[in-house]
Amino acid sequence: MKRLLTMNELTISEMEHILAEAEQFANGAVWRPQQQTMVANLFFEPSTRTKSSFEMAERKLGLEVIPFDAGASSVLKGETLYDTARTFESIGVKALVIRHEQDHYFEQLLGKQLNIPIVNAGDGCGHHPTQSLLDLLTIKQEFNTFKGLKIAIIGDITHSRVARSNAIALTRLGAKVVFSGPPEWFDENSGLGEYEAIDQAITTSDVVMLLRIQHERHDSSVETNDYLTQYGLTKEREQMMKPHAIIMHPAPINRGVEIDSELVECSRSRIFKQMQNGVFVRMAVLKNVLEQFEGGTLHENSHQK
Ligand code: CP
Repeated sequence: MKRLLTMNELTISEMEHILAEAEQFANGAVWRPQQQTMVANLFFEPSTRTKSSFEMAERKLGLEVIPFDAGASSVLKGETLYDTARTFESIGVKALVIRHEQDHYFEQLLGKQLNIPIVNAGDGCGHHPTQSLLDLLTIKQEFNTFKGLKIAIIGDITHSRVARSNAIALTRLGAKVVFSGPPEWFDENSGLGEYEAIDQAITTSDVVMLLRIQHERHDSSVETNDYLTQYGLTKEREQMMKPHAIIMHPAPINRGVEIDSELVECSRSRIFKQMQNGVFVRMAVLKNVLEQFEGGTLHENSHQK
């Protein structure tokens, strides 16, 4: 695995390998690069969890993190993403973690001279592969399998990179994925899965995965006064869930909108467990891309000799 841009480009055995290594890291395994290794996290969109858990993962692996603040960088002078990435490569950074508001931003980095691994930390409404991997780890810890599970992804599906990455991965792993929420926020031609009415989705699923309304990606302001009652996880709906079913949410959470605030830390909730797992999954992803890349670099050096 030389990069991680979308869940589509991971084989099932690569997904399983990352999850197994993440579990090992969760159990205290240690991995260190063979030499001093610098990485950088280029975040062009706000983030709390993804950015800080990548940094935690990097520090736990003994990597050195070169700081980057988009708002104080030469991006403000018009420098392109490609030139920014090439700059970090030129000064010796060995991997880039990138979040960007543009869907598929990574396409502008491919097929050029950039020769370090890119890990996608979220592209617009496109993909969020490490969120998907941490969600997979959380589900696997709970059920030990994906086959036969029913996962309901509920909310702002159209604008959710988490919904897309998880639908792709979970379906390939044998789960049934259904969607619910405002029908206008679900494209029935997306090919990702079927729509179900909210009560049906919640009462029949093993995992109820709620999504934040992505206000920043809507053209007009979205009215959320009645959202909880219509499409959110109320205390009444939580009572209707299957006995073993769990609640997930990638966060940040709009408390009282997509989920009743009292349910955020209830016994079914795995929301903070997801965040904890994010560190271990990101350690596994970074370990894998750096190992593969270092191999490539050694080959190139010996070729030059
Ligand atoms: N889940 C997630 O991507 O959160 P952040 O936007 O805080 O990184």
